Amino acid sequence: MEHQPNIVLTQEQINFFWDNGFLAIEQISSPAEIEIMRAAYDKIFQQRAGRDEGNQFDLAGTDEDGKQAALPQILNPAKYAPELKDTLAEANARSIAKQLFARMGNPELVTGGVAHAIFKPARVGAPTPWHQDEAYWNPLVDPISLSVWMPLQPATPENGCMQFIPGTHQWEVEEHHSINHDPRIHGLEIDEKVEVDYSKAVVCPLPAGGCTLHLSRTLHYTGPNHSEMPRRALIMGFQLPGRPYQGERRFIWNEIKTTAREERSSMKAA
Ligand code: NI
Repeated sequence: MEHQPNIVLTQEQINFFWDNGFLAIEQISSPAEIEIMRAAYDKIFQQRAGRDEGNQFDLAGTDEDGKQAALPQILNPAKYAPELKDTLAEANARSIAKQLFARMGNPELVTGGVAHAIFKPARVGAPTPWHQDEAYWNPLVDPISLSVWMPLQPATPENGCMQFIPGTHQWEVEEHHSINHDPRIHGLEIDEKVEVDYSKAVVCPLPAGGCTLHLSRTLHYTGPNHSEMPRRALIMGFQLPGRPYQGERRFIWNEIKTTAREERSSMKAA
């Protein structure tokens, strides 16, 4: 079934997004849809779907086999759980992305959809340290891209809702390193040398099926999960065609990474 998006942003919301680099929206899905998505989501994490292909791994640890993941992530989760795609939430997220990108190019050229899922286990879920998403990507490309972060249960400061530093979308990609400076860990954090005023962080609690949107350089973070319930987030990504990056840059932190996940994925490919 094709879902009809039902959200029209106000000019105030659009301006807020471009001034601050992020925006929170109360609801893009429905309770019934969230219930179906949550069941499918829990199933693929229980099954450890995608692990052999390198699509499921621990974002915050060294990810050896047999070790409990502190922050399990699944790339392309809709491959393992089709219930996660072609939803009202996705139709709304795409429509919102088009409304926000209308000033950057032809909104009809916006592509993207469900990208990944990050699960924070009850009580032990690790923080996702402060980072800019673009630090994970190809340094030769200057992307026009936003991420939509949607929790499948209420997201609170206690269980690890999103936090942003307003205005950081205007920054370059700053220096990052693997979490704990351990190149075996996939997750990145912004380097301690970078001056950031963390007192400016805006905390964004959300109901299930609400979302935040942020640009590729907006500095963001989620805290540890101190609650008794898992914190589930589904992340969608939407983009206009990227441009070649003007100038020179290297993301050394990615060049020196050697994760167990990459080994699993190359074993599969070989
Ligand atoms: Ni991120």
